[in-house]
Amino acid sequence: MRKPIMAGNWKMNKTPDETKAMITALAPEIEDADCTVILCTPAVCISAAQEAAKGSNIQIGAQNCHFENSGAYTAETSPATLKAIGIQYVIVGHSERRQYFAETDETVNLRAKAALSNGLTPIICVGESLAQREAGVTETLVRYQTTAALSGISAEDAASLVIAYEPIWAIGTGKTATAEDANVVCGYIRSQIADLYNKQVADAIVIQYGGSVNPKNVKELMSMENIDGGLVGGASLTAENFSQLANYNK
Ligand code: PGA
Repeated sequence: MRKPIMAGNWKMNKTPDETKAMITALAPEIEDADCTVILCTPAVCISAAQEAAKGSNIQIGAQNCHFENSGAYTAETSPATLKAIGIQYVIVGHSERRQYFAETDETVNLRAKAALSNGLTPIICVGESLAQREAGVTETLVRYQTTAALSGISAEDAASLVIAYEPIWAIGTGKTATAEDANVVCGYIRSQIADLYNKQVADAIVIQYGGSVNPKNVKELMSMENIDGGLVGGASLTAENFSQLANYNK
């Protein structure tokens, strides 16, 4: 019922030429993928990425958007502009934004609402640190982040957006949550959505896992009931790896 989404988050990697080369190599490899395939490139590479992805089933996404459509916000990206250039998906609240760029649950919520009001689909990231996991507060924390991120968002909008569960200790470390552990937390988020809204919204919402997803672990992660895709950093940078993720069921 839920179509899985495999989304790459390139972070601050690749030039426009490297972008074109990767997408040109990837496109034929994922022609028959059963999931939605997205690459969130650096903002400065979006136009090169869109050009290279033309006619393929790769969608180009963005890594963040601001909560205002325009104004004196140096270096920020307007959600209205993203929409105007043909972007659909935008990552919001990635842990690196929270950690290095002082984003809070409140700004994540504002950015998610701004994305939705411009017709974009936010991919909202939540997840605990190692210390929080060891302290046994994973569920409390994820519950809080999810509730805060969705504050003021209608049931209809909530059903259309994406949540990415990304335990911070698993990002870029090679340490993946076990598929079972990831499934438990994704299932917990889904039950939280049911509490906040209703069962229909919980059944419709796409919940991804992110954190060292790679060609070796993708099949097992994707076999889990509550995991509807991946948000992928390192393994989204090469066509060879990312095509295996998009073709996880082949
Ligand atoms: P990783 O990054 O796949 O390199 O662990 C995931 C992410 O930050 O979204």
